[in-house]
Amino acid sequence: MPAIETIPRASGILPLLGHIAPLARDPLAFVSNLHNYGPVARIRMGTKHVVVVNDPALIRSVLLDDRTFDKGGPLFERGREALGNGLITCPHSDHRRARRLSQPAFQPRRMADYAAVMSEQADKVTRSWHDGQILDITSEMMALTVEVTLQTLFTNSLPRATASQITDDFLTLMTGFFRRMISPPLLNQVPSTGNRAYARAIRRLRETVGDIIAARRAEGSDHGDLLSALCSATDPDSMTGRTSTELVDEVLTFLLAGTETTAGTLSWAMHLLSQNPAVESRIYQEVESTRHGSRLDFTHLPALETTGNAVKETLRLYPAVWMLTRVTTSDTDLGGYLLPKDTIVAFSPYQIHRRSDLYDQADQFDPDRWRDSPPAQETYIPFSAGPRKCMGDRFALTQATLVLATVVSRWQLLPVTDKALQPSVKASLTPRGLHLRVAARSSQP
Ligand code: HEM
Repeated sequence: MPAIETIPRASGILPLLGHIAPLARDPLAFVSNLHNYGPVARIRMGTKHVVVVNDPALIRSVLLDDRTFDKGGPLFERGREALGNGLITCPHSDHRRARRLSQPAFQPRRMADYAAVMSEQADKVTRSWHDGQILDITSEMMALTVEVTLQTLFTNSLPRATASQITDDFLTLMTGFFRRMISPPLLNQVPSTGNRAYARAIRRLRETVGDIIAARRAEGSDHGDLLSALCSATDPDSMTGRTSTELVDEVLTFLLAGTETTAGTLSWAMHLLSQNPAVESRIYQEVESTRHGSRLDFTHLPALETTGNAVKETLRLYPAVWMLTRVTTSDTDLGGYLLPKDTIVAFSPYQIHRRSDLYDQADQFDPDRWRDSPPAQETYIPFSAGPRKCMGDRFALTQATLVLATVVSRWQLLPVTDKALQPSVKASLTPRGLHLRVAARSSQP
């Protein structure tokens, strides 16, 4: 079988650095171009080979075989520093038990309660805006999704000061996370102000969450929230639940996995609606004819079809997780090439979603493309696929749909500049410096 060195290599390589320069300069353009090399392409990050998979069927085969293609690569190594052995970062050998222990927290019957929190928070935030106000949308959405995650995890049990300390520490962690992901490991050891703040935030977050869990366990009652579901779950094989450290890992995993991703998606959606007033207006009509003046809840979701399709389409154009990696755990065949054990394998949902050979008018925002045809398994992968598929996909889609619908029911979204909006490409894909003006709907109470 042909060796890894025979996989077509992307141009633009530099000694020692490999492809780090084009990847750092314009990562989206760089990964978008790689499919021109064939079903698989080879890049180099420093001295390490990375095999980038461009063929949707091959990507699926990688994702379905999580034993051979296990979690690994720089994103996961940095993730483990903060999240320990949580569901996102744990290896295949620990995953089955961890996933089973989290399953009860995402049962459909719990989703209605989470949806109530999402709507309430959306209502509160959108009511605080003023007619004509220019908003920093990404910050607004980040504050909203952090609050929703805290409320669904801990209901109303957190004192205000504890909640705001968790939020502050969490934002410090998010800021440091990507910087540390792309920095050489030695730089991450230097006692700089940033590194010290990052270490302090992780330490304090873990302590605070650990104290909350200890108090909850001592109390023993079910609050009907995510934390209660995580605390009370027992693995049927081993008849054991999670240890306190495992619970802290999991709570931080939900905070990290669910907030910036959903906030980024909502921000892109609001940007796209500000550019597409006809779609925005249809969503407004849809929401008004669905809610009849009441606050939106879980039961309204099936009727919010255009809103839901706008969210799906946003996740196609701007998948928050734009690049994913795995590591081979044994010598293996991929697309007819022999990959040695410990090879990093990567793929980009962004590249797949924007390919003109896979989508008509791939760069166009067209929520109606989903009206009669649900997304295809192989070519629509914002939540990945297989055993490691996002566990919060329903949670995220519910939140994004309810928040977007609530925003549009109150406010018309207007651009404040005609300059093209640039993505900020970090661990997740968010719009850089998105500001929008909000104009009150005439029917607003
Ligand atoms: C728009 C929002 C979101 C996007 C685009 C997204 C995307 C993803 C992706 C692509 C993965 C797979 C990572 C991989 O294969 O390596 C993932 C995993 C995961 N996500 Fe999400 N996510 C979102 C929101 C959420 C939310 C709200 C939660 C929790 C409340 C969540 C919890 C998780 C967990 C626990 C995993 C790990 C699953 C496992 O390995 O078994 N995500 N997410």
